[in-house]
Amino acid sequence: MEIVRVKDYEEMSKTACNYMLRKVKELESPVLGLATGSTPEGLYRHLVDEYKKGNVSFKHVQTFNLDEYTKLDPTDINSYHYFMNKHLFEHIDIPKDQIHLPNGNASDLEDECHNYENKISEAGKIDLQLLGIGINGHIGFNEPGTPFTSRTHIVTLVESTRKANSRFFPSIDDVPTHAITMGIETIMESKEILLLVFGEMKADTLNRLTNGEVSEDFPASILHKHPKVTIIADEAACSKLVIKS
Ligand code: PGA
Repeated sequence: MEIVRVKDYEEMSKTACNYMLRKVKELESPVLGLATGSTPEGLYRHLVDEYKKGNVSFKHVQTFNLDEYTKLDPTDINSYHYFMNKHLFEHIDIPKDQIHLPNGNASDLEDECHNYENKISEAGKIDLQLLGIGINGHIGFNEPGTPFTSRTHIVTLVESTRKANSRFFPSIDDVPTHAITMGIETIMESKEILLLVFGEMKADTLNRLTNGEVSEDFPASILHKHPKVTIIADEAACSKLVIKS
């Protein structure tokens, strides 16, 4: 696990953009795993800028998002479909049929989980999976206690996650109670992982990730078992990092 320390959110976003663009330019048919939340917004802004400047095309890229709420229409402003369109997809030249998110509105959600896994397998491995991290160590919507062997599945969101995400909704009662998420094993099968962490609120989380033990109580700790993880973290997120000598 390599940690790249940067000054602030802006530098984190720019560094992550360069990292992702290298993959997009290097590979013949890159498969990117994408994430939502406050963390990757700046990265997506930079990707859009690079596209608008004519520095990159996404015509050959396939994407798979980590997760989606259940029971929200893709056009709902709080859905992750909407988020991704607004921040990235509607501004770049990626063909629509190469964009994949779980359908949280499917009539058979179990079936949707299987379909999503199958689509990822058909695309081959995810070349680069982007991750944020929850304060409780969740990755995707894999909350503490999720088996490391989990595949794409339906989750009940824990109260702390609903509370954290309620900042995007009129009230906490409007935050969905369930979501579909890629499983931890699904994430771990990606060839490379890029984890972004920013802000003082995540300082304890980053220290626990770096120095804590690998345990299902802290889902992101599984990343220690992955051969190629890069963490880009800003000064505030690194402020409680204990460096072991
Ligand atoms: P955030 O969410 O980027 O909005 O902090 C990260 C996460 O919960 O995975």
